[in-house]
Amino acid sequence: MATNPSVAPSSPEAARQNFVWGVSTSSYQIEGAADRDGRGPSIWDSYCHQIGRIANGDTGDVACDHYSRYQQDVDLMRDLGVHAYRFSVAWPRVLPKGSGAINEPGLAFYDRLIDALLAAEIEPWLCLYHWDLPQALDDLGGWTNRDCALWFADYAALIARRYGDRVKRFATFNEPSVFTLFGYCMGGQAPGIADQGLLLRAMHHVNLAHGTCVDVLRTNVPQASLGIIHNREPCVPASDAPQDAAAAHKLDLYWNNVFPDPQLLGYYPPLLADAIAPFQQPGDLARICRPIDWFGLNHYSPLYLKANDRNPLGVGFGDPPPGVQRTVMGWPVEPGAFRATLTEIHRRYRLPIYVLENGTAVTDKIDGKGEVADQQRIDFLAAYTAAMFEAIKAGADVRGYFVWSLLDNFEWGSGYGPRFGITYVDFPTQRRIPKASFHWYARLIKASGRTPALPSGEA
Ligand code: FCB
Repeated sequence: MATNPSVAPSSPEAARQNFVWGVSTSSYQIEGAADRDGRGPSIWDSYCHQIGRIANGDTGDVACDHYSRYQQDVDLMRDLGVHAYRFSVAWPRVLPKGSGAINEPGLAFYDRLIDALLAAEIEPWLCLYHWDLPQALDDLGGWTNRDCALWFADYAALIARRYGDRVKRFATFNEPSVFTLFGYCMGGQAPGIADQGLLLRAMHHVNLAHGTCVDVLRTNVPQASLGIIHNREPCVPASDAPQDAAAAHKLDLYWNNVFPDPQLLGYYPPLLADAIAPFQQPGDLARICRPIDWFGLNHYSPLYLKANDRNPLGVGFGDPPPGVQRTVMGWPVEPGAFRATLTEIHRRYRLPIYVLENGTAVTDKIDGKGEVADQQRIDFLAAYTAAMFEAIKAGADVRGYFVWSLLDNFEWGSGYGPRFGITYVDFPTQRRIPKASFHWYARLIKASGRTPALPSGEA
């Protein structure tokens, strides 16, 4: 059901009352159990096991062992008081070869997880794709193969039929621009290809997969509330040089527009349309632009860009102006950019917004009292949630906020170094220790006073 703008909360106070507070994770980053119960390999299993790809040679083989410890993690969330939990299904856990034979034990794991969440009165938000493409499909070209959209639609139908009685919130993809840009062109992510032509081809097929999947989910779960999760960051030239301005403009199109524009406005950015045309078939834009209910936003920081001829896209990452604070990832801390991003999305796409990832990596340590005093993370979250409320006051229709992440986890190319969790994970023992930010977030949620309710659609 497309959203009726008249149901938008009438005031910031009303928005606050019904606000959804949550936490997010993803399958490959936390589940582990890479070879348990019939799971097939994904492109991230293959990529991590290639020498030199990941810091410290880390892999997601064990990660947070969430596959075995999910009940403990749900208990943590109940203690935290979140209304919702966003997780992803590992496609190769339920379809080991990506299509064809179903893996019943894999499906049963998500049954257990969903039932545990509902028992704890936490609403499951299910994301179908957080980057772990089945390796068997990549062997057939992965997202560069147009058929991948059809394989994805069949996978979506399986998930919808299995869980649609209990799950009403679905996201088709997490950050399509990030996994295509880095996986197919700029380097640093699976499947590790660097080719601008293949990038554009993959982008178009992911767009097709999104639109096709929306139709499949609507048919199978009539009350579903559907969205997609985009990483959106302002693209800022790193200097006054005209070539850096051009680089920033170029990345803006690839990072911020090439997915939401065709999906929500029905067209590709004019400067990219010709380059994508060879991969299009008649009717594709109509297949891609299907009504959805909300815009999922992941936001961390603005991006500072400069021209870089060594990169196949001709764009490289630069530094923010001197004096701007940066996290251990090197990402600038600029809550004002978050506020501006929320306002811009509201104006451009006119959909309710859920912030489905925001947070920061901190060099956390367990102190003498056995606690983790992550004041820096508290400061970050306080500043960013304040910026969000300013955006709401200025009229942006923001309906929820999810912290990345519930747990310290496998941070892709950076391995287990950067800790993004509000819960510390001692990886050798898998002990979970809620950090000071966990308790801070619990108080924020409690103070917001929302009565938890399981919504159907947005109405
Ligand atoms: C986002 C990813 C998420 C996590 C955070 C830090 O781009 O969606 O999996 O790695 O960054």
